[in-house]
Amino acid sequence: MSEFGTGHKGEVVLAARNVAKSYGNVHALKGVNFDIHRGQVTTLFGENGAGKSTLMKILSGVIQPTSGEIILDGQPISFASSSQARDHGISIIHQELSLAPNMNVRDNIFMGREIMTATGVDFAEEERQTRLLMQDLEEDIDPLTPVEELRLGQQQIVEIARALSVNSRILIMDEPTSALSASEVEVLFKVIRDLNSRGVSIVYISHHLEEALQITNHAVVLRDGAMTAYAERKEIDLEWIVRHMVGDNFDLGSPPTGYDKGAVALSIEGITVPDAAGAGYLVVDGLSLSVREGEIVCIYGLMGAGRTELLESVAGRLRSTAGRVMLKGRDVTGQSIAQCIRDGLVLVPEDRQRDGLVQTMTVGRNLSLASLGAFTRGLFTSFSREAGLVTESIRKVHIKTDGGGAAIGSLSGGNQQKVVIGKMLATEPDVILLDEPSRGIDIGAKAEVFKLLAERAKQGLAVIYTTSEVGECLSIAHRIIVMRRGRISAEFGPDVTKEQIMAASGEAVVAH
Ligand SMILES: Nc1ncnc2c1ncn2[C@@H]1O[C@H](COP(=O)(O)OP(=O)(O)OP(=O)(O)O)[C@@H](O)[C@H]1O
Ligand SMILES: [Mg+2]
Repeated sequence: MSEFGTGHKGEVVLAARNVAKSYGNVHALKGVNFDIHRGQVTTLFGENGAGKSTLMKILSGVIQPTSGEIILDGQPISFASSSQARDHGISIIHQELSLAPNMNVRDNIFMGREIMTATGVDFAEEERQTRLLMQDLEEDIDPLTPVEELRLGQQQIVEIARALSVNSRILIMDEPTSALSASEVEVLFKVIRDLNSRGVSIVYISHHLEEALQITNHAVVLRDGAMTAYAERKEIDLEWIVRHMVGDNFDLGSPPTGYDKGAVALSIEGITVPDAAGAGYLVVDGLSLSVREGEIVCIYGLMGAGRTELLESVAGRLRSTAGRVMLKGRDVTGQSIAQCIRDGLVLVPEDRQRDGLVQTMTVGRNLSLASLGAFTRGLFTSFSREAGLVTESIRKVHIKTDGGGAAIGSLSGGNQQKVVIGKMLATEPDVILLDEPSRGIDIGAKAEVFKLLAERAKQGLAVIYTTSEVGECLSIAHRIIVMRRGRISAEFGPDVTKEQIMAASGEAVVAH
């Protein structure tokens, strides 16, 4: 099927031939064939654990295939490392961010590729180029800011900038937009089209299917490590993608049907959080909100609206300077995270790598970690009860893993996200706060998580979750709160329209 050529748009530049990858008896990829065309976008679709990241890591030299071939410009080639692939013009933006948190933006972008003069690193030139990259991405980030001070979406932009700075011919983007706002996505898509017009090929992965369709020229669908479909844009639509991703019997579930008003479970009263950098404004500005037993409240807002800071200050992760948090009528303001968990108030944090998972522990231990208190008598942990909980959690949130003993890093990105959700649900909380819980999980898993939350809510769990996807609010929430600049700008029932929600957030309403 390939036609390798010499620089015309649409010609095949890179191809995978029978590429397979196994980890012991886990067959992550089972012989995949497809072409990447010059100056076009090839998008990979597939459920969590389908093999997308594995395939991209092979194309970019991060890992080697068990069998099969990579063909570059008509010639078989193998990369021993990602820097070797980079020398051939192939770069990758990883799904899990790989920045050094305590280093600044400039140094992260040029790490390992410093611009040198006779006397040493040319920091001024690096800074100038960083500023230009930020301009291209229309992002107001100072090159000298330490990365740990940036919000997750901005860190993702830095990751993108680093890949752009390499001047690749083939740029692989594994979930580049999972933490970006709608306007940041728009800018990225402009950048992608610009790269395309200069002959750069993009390989793109996303669980935002409709969004990805906007830039897709060719689509590859993976399912359980095998390719189930490969077609051009004009032949495909959303239904086609979903059908090939998950098969025919697919049910996205239906929105919740109201709830029985219980007592107030959580009451947030005038919570105030100043900005971290000390610029003098309030990220959360005297915000009050209460949630009842059995109620699911969705907080919608743009990136930077203060949603993360609100949830973190309620759950003991961040200190508020004013206001109080009442849990079932008891004041829990300023309690530690551990104490909040013991009292039944838990948070699924936005940044799973930093706050949600312990990378050195197994899947099972990560799942049971927050509930360990319940199994421990003195120094002894009841291992059988722990094992029971782990098996139960894996089943309930549909984690695709070899078993509880697997390393957390061996799970696909979306499955790691499910572990964080499962871990917090396993503590049997009264109130659960979820910060962008659907980040990186596929549409089937999203529906499962929503179903699980709705079930638990029926049993009395109070739920607050944040999202940047307006459609999500409508698919699960009993009540929708819109946050803007640290305050509540609107409140709606479930029968609101997408446009009304977006308008209240300060977002330009774009017709789809
Ligand atoms: N180092 C590893 N050891 C063992 N199994 C692994 C390893 N890396 C990946 N796998 C397995 O390979 C399969 C494919 O994983 P991959 O990360 O490619 O999925 P993905 O399609 O990118 O999913 P997601 O949408 O969740 O990111 C999964 O079952 C995963 O657990
Ligand atoms: Mg992945």
